[in-house]
Amino acid sequence: MATIMSRLNVNIDHIATIRQARRTNEPNPVSAAVICELAGADGITTHLRSDRRHIQDYDLIALKQAVITHLNVEMAATDEMIEIALSVKPDVVTLVPESPQEVTTEGGLDVITHRKAVKNAIARLNDHGIFVSLFIDPDPRQIREASKLGAFQIEICTGNYAQMNETPGDLTVRKTKEIGKEVDRIRGVARTALREGLKVAAGHGLTYRNVGPIARILEIEEYNIGHNIIARAALVGLDRAVREMLEAIRFSRALG
Ligand code: PXP
Repeated sequence: MATIMSRLNVNIDHIATIRQARRTNEPNPVSAAVICELAGADGITTHLRSDRRHIQDYDLIALKQAVITHLNVEMAATDEMIEIALSVKPDVVTLVPESPQEVTTEGGLDVITHRKAVKNAIARLNDHGIFVSLFIDPDPRQIREASKLGAFQIEICTGNYAQMNETPGDLTVRKTKEIGKEVDRIRGVARTALREGLKVAAGHGLTYRNVGPIARILEIEEYNIGHNIIARAALVGLDRAVREMLEAIRFSRALG
């Protein structure tokens, strides 16, 4: 097959998670988005959750103004969210399932069960020039339904794959085979989606350690990765941050 270029969208939600821990104004997700773009990210992804636990409505407006690459906003297919999307006009809306108690998105959206709401959301968003991606599990039935509903892209949920990789001490032959089967399943579904005329993205739980086999699936053109990048940023940036605070204190004391 012809080589499809890959794109990385960085999910910056956890920058807002840190800010919301103090209800202050830093760190600012817009600053984070700009740094990601300067580092070469192809796009910015963010999830406006119904409970507003991290990203706020005003962040979306600011991100829309600041992001010069590609803004992908994840949201539930509710009237409230669709109205917000229509006024902010991101490049893409990714429809995801949402439940109030979940720590993070727990799996793909069942677009068969929620066919009516998804169809309605796609029609409204498309009417305003917003492309719609559907976050779904690697299940061929979901892919075919996504295609019928008129999505332009699917994002394959890699949550299960990531979970399987979670216990590195337990990489037994059986488990390694199971992980291999899950990768094959994701690859198969990516091929089905491409044949159906859909673009293919993947995300959830991808890390520096587990991204390799998923990155080798050439049908996938977009990766949405958040937690692991922001977690690493906190640690690789900590040394410099401490040194800068020491300097600020010592400099002030030296001035007397
Ligand atoms: N894709 C979707 C649809 C998501 O809901 C999330 C989490 O917000 C991600 C990708 C990124 O997942 P992670 O933060 O685990 O990299």
